[in-house]
Amino acid sequence: MTEQLDDMYRDIIMEHYRYPRGHKEISEPDLANQGHNPVCGDVTEIKLTLDGDRIEDISVNCVGCAISVASGSMLADMIEGKTISDVRKIAEVVRALIKGEEIDTDLDLGDLEALEGVRNFPVRIKCALLSWTTLVDAIEAREVGQTVEASTTE
Ligand code: FES
Repeated sequence: MTEQLDDMYRDIIMEHYRYPRGHKEISEPDLANQGHNPVCGDVTEIKLTLDGDRIEDISVNCVGCAISVASGSMLADMIEGKTISDVRKIAEVVRALIKGEEIDTDLDLGDLEALEGVRNFPVRIKCALLSWTTLVDAIEAREVGQTVEASTTE
C-alpha cells in the first residue's frame, strides 16, 4: 500500500515537472522575485499581477530539479485567484507539510500532498520550498514598501 502511495505521489510530481503550470511570461507584473537554492544554484522566478488584493495571474519559471519545478507548478495552481492573506496562510501550511511540522488546518492541499515525503530527505526540503520562499519574500517586501532583489531558500 505504501509503495502504491509512493508511486502515486511520484507520478503527480513528474506530471507537474513535465507540464509545469504557470510556465509563461508576465510582462508587467505587480510583484516579482527571483529565488535561488544555494545548495545547487537552481533558480526560480515568480511574477504576478494583482486585482486589488487578489492574485489575478501568476507565472512561475523554475529551472531546477523535479521537486522544485513540481512544487512551483503546484504553487501556481494553488494560489491563482486567492488573496494575499490567503496565500500567506497557504504558504505556512505548505512549509509545515514539507518540513514535517505540526499545523492545525483544514486546507485542501490537493496535489501538494505529494510533497509530504520530502520531509524525509532534508537536502530536498530547500528544493520543495524554493518557489514558496521566493513568493513569500516578495509579499513581505511589498508589505513594508520595499522591492526584493532576490531570495535564498532557508
Ligand atoms: Fe536544485 Fe532541487 S536540486 S532545486
